[in-house]
Amino acid sequence: MTKRNVLILGGYGTFGRHVAEDIAATSEAQVTIAGRNPGKGKPFAETLGVGFRQCDANDSASLRKAVEDAWLVINASGPFKATDYSIPQTCIDAGCHYIDMADGRDYVVNIVQLDEAASNQRVFVCAGASTTPAITSALVAELQPQLGRIRSIQIALNAGNRNQAGVSTIATILSYVGCPVRVWQDGRWRTMRGWSAGEFVEFPPPVGRRRVQLCDVPDLEVFPQHFEVDDVIFKAGVELTILNYAIAAMARLKQICPPLNLPSFARPLVCMSKLFKPFGTLHGGCAVWATDLDGRQKSVALVAHENGPRIPGSPAILLARKLLSGEISNTGAYPCIGFLRLADFAEFLAPFNIFVAHGKNGVWTS
Ligand SMILES: NC(=O)c1ccc[n+]([C@@H]2O[C@H](COP(=O)([O-])OP(=O)(O)OC[C@H]3O[C@@H](n4cnc5c(N)ncnc54)[C@H](OP(=O)(O)O)[C@@H]3O)[C@@H](O)[C@H]2O)c1
Repeated sequence: MTKRNVLILGGYGTFGRHVAEDIAATSEAQVTIAGRNPGKGKPFAETLGVGFRQCDANDSASLRKAVEDAWLVINASGPFKATDYSIPQTCIDAGCHYIDMADGRDYVVNIVQLDEAASNQRVFVCAGASTTPAITSALVAELQPQLGRIRSIQIALNAGNRNQAGVSTIATILSYVGCPVRVWQDGRWRTMRGWSAGEFVEFPPPVGRRRVQLCDVPDLEVFPQHFEVDDVIFKAGVELTILNYAIAAMARLKQICPPLNLPSFARPLVCMSKLFKPFGTLHGGCAVWATDLDGRQKSVALVAHENGPRIPGSPAILLARKLLSGEISNTGAYPCIGFLRLADFAEFLAPFNIFVAHGKNGVWTS
């Protein structure tokens, strides 16, 4: 069988490395990983027995050269800027399929503006192949048949402190903390602040009670219409409560001084967070609580006993596998909703000690 060239941008980052490891092991793909720093990227590529290409995705000539012979590009770099589609557009122009792990709300929602160009080139473009909205939408879809008409959706995510935090992920979070965030509540849009509305929620064991606060993610924009509901809220947090309060303090600073460029603090923050690594656990999870018109509530979660960082990479891996096998043959541009089911994730993640838990009326039952 002829192998297809798969280029993984950021294939040695916190989450991209898991994508690279998996796709490099599939028989249908010839993987190359790419990024700006050969000192980091090359040694990792060698451990996988794959190629490395130096590429700055923000430099159009460098990007064009990197993707020229690719059949599929998986973008695990970031952060993803709201209105900048230069990376998927370059892939469309080069005639290759494109999947990314974006969590930028506007970026993921508006990827459909590339639909016509992608269809004309007969390529598949998919944004948000990561926890939000790929996994969160699969969790809600799991509850829908059990509840019928859902009125409200609450989503919460919390990572174990001993897992490594990625600079790009932290930069994305810092891009909205303290900033206005539109939230669909009681059937109308309300404005709240990023990282506000902090509360403790109960995740299934072994994760337990964790603090979460409001995040600006694609789900807030897409789910109200997609699932026809009156309320959608998405909150996330880290395991150590003190670090959640530290980010809340940064949100306050941003409110007092709006020009403050918080994402520029992402790298020092990640370095500082390493001092706290001896504390906490590897346990993390992503949970959804859905309530129907009669107030009945069902919940479902993906719970990581360890290996939590395998979760965000799994949608890009599963989507790439389906594309390589021909199971997905769509062309056009889409947010990553409806292509993968919870059963796909459960099967893929179980060997990593990550399982599905169910609950009812606020109590986790399995
Ligand atoms: N949708 C979701 O639910 C979800 C969940 C988790 C993460 N994410 C997103 O996934 C992305 C990756 O997160 P992460 O924590 O794994 O990031 P990370 O650890 O910082 O890794 C980013 C990788 O991309 C490379 N990179 C960064 N800028 C680049 C550029 N201009 N050109 C080429 N390569 C570049 C980096 O290498 P060099 O610095 O050497 O170039 C690194 O290998 C982020 O955008 C994050 O927001 C989404």
